[in-house]
Amino acid sequence: MANSKYEYVKSFEVEDKLMPSTWIVVRIDGRHFHQFSDEHEFEKPNDKQALELMNSCAEALLEEFKDVVFAYGVSDEYSFLFKKTSEFYQRRASKIVSILVSFFSSLYVMKWKTFFPLKELKTIPCFDARAICYPSTKIVRDYFSWRQVDCHINNQYNTCFWMLIKSGKTKREAQDLLKGTQTPEKNEILFQLGINYNELPAMFRKGSCVFRDKGEEIVKYNQDGDPVKRLRTKVGTVHRDIIGDTFWREHPEILSD
Ligand code: GTP
Ligand code: MG
Repeated sequence: MANSKYEYVKSFEVEDKLMPSTWIVVRIDGRHFHQFSDEHEFEKPNDKQALELMNSCAEALLEEFKDVVFAYGVSDEYSFLFKKTSEFYQRRASKIVSILVSFFSSLYVMKWKTFFPLKELKTIPCFDARAICYPSTKIVRDYFSWRQVDCHINNQYNTCFWMLIKSGKTKREAQDLLKGTQTPEKNEILFQLGINYNELPAMFRKGSCVFRDKGEEIVKYNQDGDPVKRLRTKVGTVHRDIIGDTFWREHPEILSD
């Protein structure tokens, strides 16, 4: 087809290919979720249903996009890791970022009723997103450690803060009490309020990891009524420590090239 005289406008489009042979992380983050969680009366500091909705969206995303090998989520954010060799949309940043964030946002709306059958979705959930390239598995590990440390620090602070409020302190008093405290002091405050931090749900303390894992699946039952099983890769969510080596040693396929 002959070019029209307008075709030249295409030359204004810039190349935005992500560096080859690097791990791509796309991190999405809820826009104004402080407000969104208030409007929808999320439990403070952690709303189990809201977090499970996020996890369910992340699982569906991994089912759809096979190049995404791992995801880590906490609060209103999720990080998605593409395998190093991915050629998804020729590694074009804007395509990758926009597809992932719009897919996730649509899922969030579609699945809302399943997780909040009695709550109307009052405002539009919206997420920002960015893509970052990491050149080595060490840095990828450090990236996820950074997010999990953040999860721990925020969750411990928020748990203390809201427990102090529940015990009758004002927001100002709670803030002043927590100023400059380290982990052991916060644990002590919680202990005195009758809470053992380590017994809180792992999803709150450690965040959520989504990946493909091998599991057994019942295909049918034979004539004796015994199950016939086969191995199958299934996307699932766990709440584990990802700072130490154990998790990664148990799942070497995630970071293998
Ligand atoms: P931007 O991301 O800059 O648009 O701001 P934001 O309002 O989304 O804040 P940010 O992403 O820094 O932090 C997420 C916020 O979401 C938290 O500060 C909480 O207010 C809220 N949030 C996330 N998860 C929960 C939850 O489980 N329960 C409640 N009550 N609030 C939550
Ligand atoms: Mg946010």
